[in-house]
Amino acid sequence: MNTKNNDNEKGYWNNYYAVKDVPLLPSQFAVFVANEITPTVVVDIGCGNGRDSLFFARRRLPVIGIDASQSAVDSCIAKAMEEYLHDTSFVCSNISDPKLNDVIIEKIKGYERGILLYSRFFLHAVDESAQEKLFTLASKILSQYGGCLALEFRTPEDKERIKVTDKHYRRYIGMQEAIDSAKEHSLVATYQVQGLGMAKYKSDDAHVARILFSYSET
Ligand SMILES: C[S@@+](CC[C@H](N)C(=O)[O-])C[C@H]1O[C@@H](n2cnc3c(N)ncnc32)[C@H](O)[C@@H]1O
Repeated sequence: MNTKNNDNEKGYWNNYYAVKDVPLLPSQFAVFVANEITPTVVVDIGCGNGRDSLFFARRRLPVIGIDASQSAVDSCIAKAMEEYLHDTSFVCSNISDPKLNDVIIEKIKGYERGILLYSRFFLHAVDESAQEKLFTLASKILSQYGGCLALEFRTPEDKERIKVTDKHYRRYIGMQEAIDSAKEHSLVATYQVQGLGMAKYKSDDAHVARILFSYSET
């Protein structure tokens, strides 16, 4: 059974970002989102080694990266310093930390409305309770500050497909299932697509869903 052990998973990601040669080029999803949305500030949830955070920062956008892995966050900070990307900050935090909402609000409060909450390959890396935390957080922030939640994640059609990274916890989520769960938090899908060719890395041509959400009470 594919059960999630939080300590094992944290260890997995810490080791992954400490020792592996992880791609630093931005993802196809980041480029897609940058074409679609012009935010005032980007919050990258589950930012990993910062491949996409740094891409947004190089486009002169203020970026806040959040990740539970200290080695991932350390690597983001080091790279941002190397590239003199001063309008960035990286926070080591679990999505389930009840203080995270206040931490983000504190960092974004000076910006105009129009936040991009960006989260790539995070949803399938966490369990349902963490997914709920993400939607709760997104709903609170977007209701106050406006903007968009952009998600990309592996779908059930991806389960048996080739992977190039080691075996670890992956929860495959149907696109409609994610849309329905988000709706309970007043997050409404404004764009959705799924398929192959959108998140290809070597022999891993992941079957993914991409969804853009905005906040709407109706
Ligand atoms: C598959 S990686 C995606 C990294 C990056 N977004 C990308 O697309 O390359 C998933 C990331 O989520 C982080 N993560 C997993 N569970 C988390 C949690 N509960 N809270 C915060 N970050 C978490 C991991 O440390 C890892 O960096």
